Amino acid sequence: MKENFLWGGATAANQFEGGYNEDGKGLSIADVTLGSVHGQPRVIHDDVHGDCLYPSHVASDFYHRYKEDIKLMSEMGFKCYRMSLAWTRIFPDGDEDKANESGLEFYDRIFDELAKYDIEPIVTLFHYEMPLHLVKKYGAWRNKKLIEFSVRYAQTVFERYKHKVRYWITFNEINSLFMEEGSWHSSGVIFNEEDDIGQLQLQIAHYQLLTSAKIVKLGHQINRNFKIGCMVLYPLTYGATCKPVDQLLAMKKINQTYYFLDVHVRGYYSNICEAYWKKMGKGPDFTEDELYELKEETVDFISFSYYFSEIEGQGEFERIKGNISIGGKNPYLPMTKWGWQIDPLGLRISLNQLYDRYQIPLFVVENGLGAEDVLLENGKIHDNYRIEYLKKHIKALLDAIEDDKVNVIGYTVWGCIDLISDSTGEMRKRYGLVYVDKDDNGNGTLRRIRKDSFYWYKELISSNGGILE
Ligand code: BG6
Repeated sequence: MKENFLWGGATAANQFEGGYNEDGKGLSIADVTLGSVHGQPRVIHDDVHGDCLYPSHVASDFYHRYKEDIKLMSEMGFKCYRMSLAWTRIFPDGDEDKANESGLEFYDRIFDELAKYDIEPIVTLFHYEMPLHLVKKYGAWRNKKLIEFSVRYAQTVFERYKHKVRYWITFNEINSLFMEEGSWHSSGVIFNEEDDIGQLQLQIAHYQLLTSAKIVKLGHQINRNFKIGCMVLYPLTYGATCKPVDQLLAMKKINQTYYFLDVHVRGYYSNICEAYWKKMGKGPDFTEDELYELKEETVDFISFSYYFSEIEGQGEFERIKGNISIGGKNPYLPMTKWGWQIDPLGLRISLNQLYDRYQIPLFVVENGLGAEDVLLENGKIHDNYRIEYLKKHIKALLDAIEDDKVNVIGYTVWGCIDLISDSTGEMRKRYGLVYVDKDDNGNGTLRRIRKDSFYWYKELISSNGGILE
């Protein structure tokens, strides 16, 4: 393994920070979204209602506990920490001309703290937290003006942190736009009856891809050493049987992800995109100048989340839901308690597929097991199931690097310190190597407790993956 491999952990601001209205922060869409009850979709409000419990408001309280948390990361030997910026800390409404200085200072403190421990920040600009004001006033990504606001925000943080951050990611899981339930997360758009949903999705995708291209160009102008990546959810899809038609359907499913990657990495709408437009009977509106902009500068690396795989085919099979993607159930795979199919080998296959296709560095920025942990009276958390999950996935990653010669620059465990779930808003679905004492009703001391997986991951990093050989 390369000595500079970026081992670490990942979080997102709205699931981890809390402090939802502190120091001038505005409301984001996450701040008005309730936790789900009995597996039902999360309910979204148009404002904060005083008597409701919104999971993002306190989350894991990183806002006040970042020193302790970063120290824990350093104790595990993290080389990097993937985090996101809350857009609403910096531009509370999203459309202001001037940034909120207190919000900028908060992230200065975070980056300075990380620097103390030589932990490289990997910063996502847009991780499911559109300013609520932009939804109300402009209809969020329905409106082309969002490009201007997003670029202004990116420019502000690039200039402010150009000597503190080198790795940036534009849109988290941009391809979730084409997935059921993905639109609100990624775009702040709720479809209504008059909407031509297919057309709208294609248009939003175009606006975001164009924004990403503009941001990559701008970032490289501000600091040539910036490494700016894209990010997708990678729903590896197998044919439900070895019938050729099932393979074709599986291929078409994954092509929806290549739709985005082709533009991000190659800089143009490929045949896959055109085929998708043909199938939908429509395409996005764009100008020749915009097509030129897509091509001008492309991303430096591809980052992705990998949690499960799916199957696709002609026959009848059960459909199950991952975080956002919905796919067929594979009879050969075990599942988590939340019904996500566990497929470590699939990670090796995914890495090979992506590298073979794009030939630029890859970064696994989300992987991990959401499970219920038990805090014993003696203060221990024996999460062997998580260690097993991570062991198998990281072994698959190492095999892709060592045996298949895939170029991977890093790996970050999702929710390295417990945070609230994105799909459900629950706290009891935990990913962390560190336990946070809090329950779904918001009770608890928020105390941090090292789980068994904490010690295992520490050993893994200090051996640079060697303990798995
Ligand atoms: C990814 C998101 O989709 O999956 C994260 O980028 C999310 O924000 C993660 O938390 C795990 O999903 P969940 O629903 O279990 O939190």
